[in-house]
Amino acid sequence: MDQVTVDYPARPGIIRDVSLNLPAGSFTFVTGPSGAGKTTLLKLMFLGLKPSAGRLQIFGRNAYDLSRDQKAYVRSRLGVVFQDFRLIDHMSIYDNVALPLRVTGKDVKSERDYVQELLYWVGLGDYANAKPEELSGGQKQRAAIARAVINRPALLLADEPTGNVDDGIGLKLIRLFEELNKLGTTVVVATHSESLLQRFEYPAIRLDGGRLAVRERDVA
Ligand SMILES: Nc1ncnc2c1ncn2[C@@H]1O[C@H](COP(=O)(O)OP(=O)(O)O)[C@@H](O)[C@H]1O
Ligand SMILES: [Mg+2]
Repeated sequence: MDQVTVDYPARPGIIRDVSLNLPAGSFTFVTGPSGAGKTTLLKLMFLGLKPSAGRLQIFGRNAYDLSRDQKAYVRSRLGVVFQDFRLIDHMSIYDNVALPLRVTGKDVKSERDYVQELLYWVGLGDYANAKPEELSGGQKQRAAIARAVINRPALLLADEPTGNVDDGIGLKLIRLFEELNKLGTTVVVATHSESLLQRFEYPAIRLDGGRLAVRERDVA
């Protein structure tokens, strides 16, 4: 991102003049108080929002010069964990988690064991046939995480992914992200959890009032 600013109508400067570079393969926390702009920063990164000013590159390309096909390709390489989960209500947990495989044209049948293994990994092995409404907030969050990682994305963007689970499960989920990171996935985790930030020695970008404030630990 190069001098990126986001203005919402009647709310100028939600993100102000932010420049940052997240190298491929890095693991970065985005932190700051509620309302600081963390979710907005992630939205920029998944091309869900166009900046009012500044430039953004993703996978080495200008994010806003992409053709439709290029944009679809970029999106297929992203995994996003939304703060509000966004599971599809009428689909089972299994189908929700397997959805990115279908979207990218993979043979879901041959991936059955992998989907089930991932469900076990996030502690939802017995919930494959359940509908989202039967799950607690923390369980939905874990289903959303499984869905975001199933395609082994090049870039994983996770918005408060441990916000609804207790600390033990939160640690396990971050370890899952670490495993992916070791396999090459670039990881960005927005969190206001001080205990997570202290526990994991990854660089942290701190937002305050839309600006990049002190960098807790330098981003490589
Ligand atoms: N679509 C929108 N329109 C107007 N204001 C918004 C919109 N989305 C977020 N905001 C405001 O932008 C600020 C930053 O929000 P957000 O990025 O969600 O922060 P965080 O994730 O750090 O809590 C907040 O003050 C929020 O109310
Ligand atoms: Mg947020």
